[in-house]
Amino acid sequence: MKRSPLSALTITGLLALFLVVTALPALANNESSTPQGWVAPVSAQKIQNPLPASNSVIKTGKKIFAQQCAVCHGASGRGDGPTAQYLGKKLPDFSSPEFTHQTDGEIFWKMSNGNAPMPTFKEILTEEQRWQLVNFIRTFASDK
Ligand code: HEC
Repeated sequence: MKRSPLSALTITGLLALFLVVTALPALANNESSTPQGWVAPVSAQKIQNPLPASNSVIKTGKKIFAQQCAVCHGASGRGDGPTAQYLGKKLPDFSSPEFTHQTDGEIFWKMSNGNAPMPTFKEILTEEQRWQLVNFIRTFASDK
């Protein structure tokens, strides 16, 4: 009878330790990837970009970005669009190494599938338009 409060404490302690240990990989992941730790599946890494980063491809991507993406992501791609503060999630900075270290395939997969409030664009934009966007988004990295 006298022991039960102690063992309850021990169990609580062990449980807390267990929770911390299991949460650590998720936290580490968060730091090394996107603001929320949104990671594309491994299979997406190898999806090949079929378009060259030519002037005309980038120009078209820029136009689509202004119409469909800048309202949240900002014209500069830094995550500072007019609606950004109302989304309840930190937006990525497309010029940051955390973002740019991803492959074209991962970026394409994320814009195709979405992750609320980030919309799913595979039914809104054609594959070609999404690749034009990937090529355009890459230009943010170099215009610092
Ligand atoms: C309604 C606001 C909104 C619009 C419109 C929007 N996005 Fe997003 N986007 C987000 C949010 C919020 C995230 C972060 C989601 C997360 O991390 O879970 C995001 C994340 C992303 C990511 C992943 C970033 C990373 O860190 O890996 C890409 C790529 C992306 N958006 C591209 C686009 C493109 C391209 C368009 C236009 C075709 C677009 N987004 C339109 C809100 C938006």
